[in-house]
Amino acid sequence: MRPKVSIIGAGNVGATTAQRLAELDLFDLALVDVVEGLAEGKALDLAEAAPILGYDTRLEGGTDYAITEGSKVVVITSGLARKPGMSRDDLISANAKIVGEVTEQVMRRSPDAVLVIVTNPLDVMTELALRQSGLDRFRVIGMAGILDTARFRSFVAAELEVSVRSVEAYVLGGHGDSMVPLRGVTSVAGVPVGRLIANQRLEEIVQRTRDGGAEIVRLLKSGSAYYAPSAATTQMVEAIAADRRQVLPCAIRLDGEYGLRGVVMGVPVKLGAGGVSEVVEVELTDQERAEMERSAQAVREVTAVLP
Ligand code: NAI
Ligand code: 2OP
Repeated sequence: MRPKVSIIGAGNVGATTAQRLAELDLFDLALVDVVEGLAEGKALDLAEAAPILGYDTRLEGGTDYAITEGSKVVVITSGLARKPGMSRDDLISANAKIVGEVTEQVMRRSPDAVLVIVTNPLDVMTELALRQSGLDRFRVIGMAGILDTARFRSFVAAELEVSVRSVEAYVLGGHGDSMVPLRGVTSVAGVPVGRLIANQRLEEIVQRTRDGGAEIVRLLKSGSAYYAPSAATTQMVEAIAADRRQVLPCAIRLDGEYGLRGVVMGVPVKLGAGGVSEVVEVELTDQERAEMERSAQAVREVTAVLP
């Protein structure tokens, strides 16, 4: 038996994550959506692609959570996505209800699972799932930092016309306008980015990273990004379910790390079997530390609306 991964929400992010995971050929997958036929149809479609692509991933889809029984990892993508002009925080009340109900359902069938939260507003939904599940804070992990970091890396790589593989970076903090790209640790083949890109231009790239989600929403006109978000989600699931022990920027509730407590934010964590085994503390400049504190305050203000 392969480890089972369940994905709740078979929309753009959920289904694309299922496709990426199916093609990894490492896990069995269960896909659940509230819309009759949607998850079942997408799971069947993915199963029918298997002979062409050569994977043996077993796939089930439906509306009934029974198929998620015994999952090692459950990914929650169910909820509304942003429309043009909406912030991530506008989604809060509708998505809080959905994520609360879904968490309860998945915990009944998979009490030992690690939860990967994707639904926005990300930091608030991760806090909600943490409270609702009763799990340890290292088992309820939000996806955003990998995505925000990937956007930053892709923009830096395009600016310098180098491979994205040569760009190292971290974007930490909340998944919103207050996110914190760490200029101090961003480097290209070991050379600090500040020596390669003029400060003003780097600030424009930082701003484009902060606006990265909104830029895609504006272009698509309906719905939000899902290719990069599903790639980020897949990286997290693989790290956990295959026990890779990879250090990746992910959102967890902090308990003193980075001088912050009781707030969900993106920080580098070691991800493997059972979730997070360690929070990695990289050195911050004074400006970055102040930005992390401002970001924590912004997340706290939105999280305060949770009952
Ligand atoms: P989508 O609209 O394509 O898919 C959402 C799916 O959730 C739909 O199929 C819908 O039927 C399902 N759903 C709604 N209520 C449900 C329930 N109670 N139980 C089960 N399924 C339910 O949206 P998309 O693009 O997949 O985005 C999903 C969520 O992820 C949104 O909240 C979006 O803002 C968020 N997101 C977060 C990112 C991040 O970086 N954390 C990146 C991209 C999206
Ligand atoms: C994104 O950053 C909408 O949060 C989503 O693309």
